[in-house]
Amino acid sequence: MSKTRTLAEPFKIKMVEPIRLTTEEYRIDVLKKAGYNPFLIRSDDVYIDLLTDSGTSAMSDHQWAGIMLGDESYAGAHSWEHLEKVVKDLTGMPYVLPTHQGRAAERILYGILGGKGKVFISNTHFDTTRANIEFTGAEAFDCLHENALDTATLMPFKGNMDIQKARELIKIYGKQNIGALILTVTNNSAGGQPVSMQNAKELRQLCDEFGLLFVIDGCRVAENSYFIKHREPGYGENTYREIAHEMIYLADAFIMSAKKDGLANIGGLLVMKDEALAQKCTNLLIISEGFATYGGLTGRDMEAIAIGLDEVFDPDYLHYRIKSTEYLGRHLDEKGIPVIKPFGGHAIYVDAGKLYPHIPADKYPGQALVCDLYTKGGIRCVEVGSVMFGKYNEHGHLLAAKTELVRLAIPRRVYTQSHIEYVIDVFDDIIEDKQKTTGLKITYEPPFLRHFTARFERL
Ligand code: F0G
Repeated sequence: MSKTRTLAEPFKIKMVEPIRLTTEEYRIDVLKKAGYNPFLIRSDDVYIDLLTDSGTSAMSDHQWAGIMLGDESYAGAHSWEHLEKVVKDLTGMPYVLPTHQGRAAERILYGILGGKGKVFISNTHFDTTRANIEFTGAEAFDCLHENALDTATLMPFKGNMDIQKARELIKIYGKQNIGALILTVTNNSAGGQPVSMQNAKELRQLCDEFGLLFVIDGCRVAENSYFIKHREPGYGENTYREIAHEMIYLADAFIMSAKKDGLANIGGLLVMKDEALAQKCTNLLIISEGFATYGGLTGRDMEAIAIGLDEVFDPDYLHYRIKSTEYLGRHLDEKGIPVIKPFGGHAIYVDAGKLYPHIPADKYPGQALVCDLYTKGGIRCVEVGSVMFGKYNEHGHLLAAKTELVRLAIPRRVYTQSHIEYVIDVFDDIIEDKQKTTGLKITYEPPFLRHFTARFERL
């Protein structure tokens, strides 16, 4: 077999959803009306949507067949029994609660563990995780290795928690004040980078030493398992599911947004080992989500997730998934586009600060690139820089984010290689006009999570 043979999609297409490429003139007008914020653009005006990999997966024929088998009974539905069995087998944990999405599981768990004076430590808290923790009055600290956000540093497990820093924080704040240690796999807010099994084991030891609760946020745990199998010594012979099981079982609780590696369009899970904690969570679940055997989900959603959680560990699927993300990253890298390396699982992150060095952080180079990709190619993506994380000091000056990134997140099983080729081609136009592009200024912003609704003007 030729070594350079194209890695074709391990599926064929049974149903199509038309997408439309508009003219650049049309898109300039759309973007202006949307205040230069792609969150405010209609999806019908987008050609390739790389805004998120969450809830955007294409379901398989098996999942759609499962949808027809959904049992919509209020209590004890067989669709629930199916989902509960799949999740218990995967996690090894006895208490499973279904929620409408990941953040609902976070709100329940951190609502119970959090509160004023409590401290949470993570490799990196995802925004909804941080928001749910801070909403209770608790504090959230990220413990990532010093150079993990540097686009050029090549480390196999750049998503790892810095265990030494975590230990210092436990000593500073006192073990009685620690709500939990949270390992996010893969580490979405830090370039979608994987976490090693070794790191999870060390975190287990740290939690045992101080008697602390260990939570895994594993919405991309299958993708993480791929990296462990191929990068971490000792795992080459294990299946992806065995690796995921081993990692999850190290923790005391497991939270998952099924909108990612559940290959479903909605859903979340909160899974635990401890009966007393599960009892408290069940009580909150019933108040805000629904009865314990459906949470926020329909029977058909639960079928789709149960089947998705099985399909996601298929070796052909995972290989295609990780390699197709890498394909985009590699080609952008070859063009000289600064991208975070090694490439993560669900997205490629472009360093817009380095691509547009003439645009300072307070003129938002990431947002400029997001706008340029939309105008030039109808591609939608999201800024992960000073628009998302910037704060103001008491003089109203912007305290910039550490990096000005743009995330190109790839929906699962949705786009073919030629769509990705198209995205790569659009970057030629970005390179050609990069000196000419200008920054933006904010004309409206809400008090929190401003990136969703802020409006801008081009300078
Ligand atoms: N944890 C992580 C690591 C996530 O990436 C997300 C969502 C959540 C929790 C929350 O799950 O959306 O089901 O409530 N990430 C999406 C993204 C929104 O675009 O990265 P949810």
